[in-house]
Amino acid sequence: MFEGRALVNDDLERGVFRVHRSAMSSQQVWERERERVFHKCWIYVGHDSEVDKPGDFFRRDVLGHSMFVTRGQDGEVRCFYNTCPHRGATVCREDRGNAKRFTCFYHAWTFDGTGDLVTLPDEDGYGADFDRSERCLTGPPRFEQYRGFWFMSFNPEVVPLDEYLAGAKEYIDLVVDQAEDGMRVVGGSNQYQIGANWKLLCENSVDGYHGQPVHQTYFAYIHGLGGGVQTGDPLLPMGPKQLGNGHVVIEGEAPYARPIARWDPLFGEDAKEDIEAIRARIFGTYDELKAKRMCDTIRLMVVFPNLVINDITAITIRYIDPIAHDRMNVSAWALAPKEEEGDRLARRIDSYLTFIGPAGFATPDDVEALESCQRGFKAVPDAGYSDISRGMKQIPEGQHELQMRAFWRAWAAYMDEVPVPPVMSLPECSGALVGARA
Ligand code: FES
Ligand SMILES: [Fe+2]
Repeated sequence: MFEGRALVNDDLERGVFRVHRSAMSSQQVWERERERVFHKCWIYVGHDSEVDKPGDFFRRDVLGHSMFVTRGQDGEVRCFYNTCPHRGATVCREDRGNAKRFTCFYHAWTFDGTGDLVTLPDEDGYGADFDRSERCLTGPPRFEQYRGFWFMSFNPEVVPLDEYLAGAKEYIDLVVDQAEDGMRVVGGSNQYQIGANWKLLCENSVDGYHGQPVHQTYFAYIHGLGGGVQTGDPLLPMGPKQLGNGHVVIEGEAPYARPIARWDPLFGEDAKEDIEAIRARIFGTYDELKAKRMCDTIRLMVVFPNLVINDITAITIRYIDPIAHDRMNVSAWALAPKEEEGDRLARRIDSYLTFIGPAGFATPDDVEALESCQRGFKAVPDAGYSDISRGMKQIPEGQHELQMRAFWRAWAAYMDEVPVPPVMSLPECSGALVGARA
C-alpha cells in the first residue's frame, strides 16, 4: 500500500482526514517519495548571500547527493554535482569558502567557477580526440532563484520556479522587503539531526495547535518579563492559509515579541527609539496593511516539500534534508537585512537563539514531540492512523488544520503522479456544520 491516496484518507462527505502512519514509518514509502516527490519538485539549495562575491562557494547535501554552489568570476551563480568527471572523487571538500578554481585532490584536474576543466596534468597523454569540454562539471537540469532563494530541480520538465512558488512568493516578499538592501544569511548555521520522519517537521512548522501545550514555558517566561504585548488589530490576517502547490503558512499576532519593527517592553527602553525608527521606515515605504503585516504579524511557512521559512522571533531558514524514513538532517540559518549591524543584529540573534535555536525554548521541545511520535508509530503493530481532521466539518474561529491537509494532499498527489489539487475553501466537508473564512 504505497500509493499516496491510499495512505491519506480524505473523506469530504464524513469530514474525516487521516494519514496512515506507514507514510512516515516505512522505508519503502520513503524510497518511493524520494523518486516521486523530491525528484519532481523544486528543492531549496541556499541563499544568494552565501555566494556574495565571485569565487564564493558552499557545499550542501540534497537527498544524499553532494552538491556545491559557486559564483563564477563572471558573476553567475551555478550549482554542480560534487563529483569529478574524471573518476568521481569529491571536488569541493570544504563547506564554504572562496576559490577561483577547484582542484580535485585525486589527480589534480582543475575546474573554474563556470565548471570548465581548465588544466589537467599530462594532458598530452590523452591523445588528439580528448575534448576538455566534454569533461566539465555538471549540475542539475534546473537551477533558479526567487529573491535570493536558490532552488534546484532534478526534473527537467518542472514548471518555472516562479510558477511553482505560487502564493508563497507573497510571503517571501513580506520577509525580504523588511530590508532596505536585501537580506543576508548571518554567518554560521545550526546543524542538527532529528530521529523522525521529515513530514513531521513540516506539519509541526505550521501547527498552531501545539503551541500552548509544548511551549508554555517560553510564553510564561516572555510574559513574566512583560513581553508579548498584542494589539488585537482586526485588520491583521490571522490563521492558516494554503498557498498552492502544497505550500502553506500560518500568520497572526504571536504571544511573543519580535525585535524587528515593533517595540515590546521585553527589549527595554534603550531599544525603543531604534525599533520605532525601523517601523517608521517600513510604514513610510509600503501601504498600511503590508507594513502592519511586516511589523506586527508572524509567519511560519512551508515551501513544499522541505523548506521552512519562519518569520517569528527572528527570521529563520530551515532546510530539511531527509536521510531515511525516520531521520532528517536540519540546517538552520538566521536571515537579517544586509544593512543590520551592532545592537540591532545582536537583538535579532538573541531572539533567534532564545526560541528557535537548537538549544532554545522551542526547538528541543519540538524535537522531543516529533521523536515521540516516531517512537509511538512502532507501538501499534500496523502503525495506525494520525488524525488531521480538525476544522474540516466545524470550524472554531481561526482554528483548523486545512494547511496540514493541503500539505498532505499535495504529497499524496505527487506520490500518485497526479496534479496537486487546487486551493480549497473552508469548510471542505460538504456536510459542514459551521462556515468560516477561507
Ligand atoms: S578523480 Fe578527480 S582528478 Fe581524478
Ligand atoms: Fe513548536
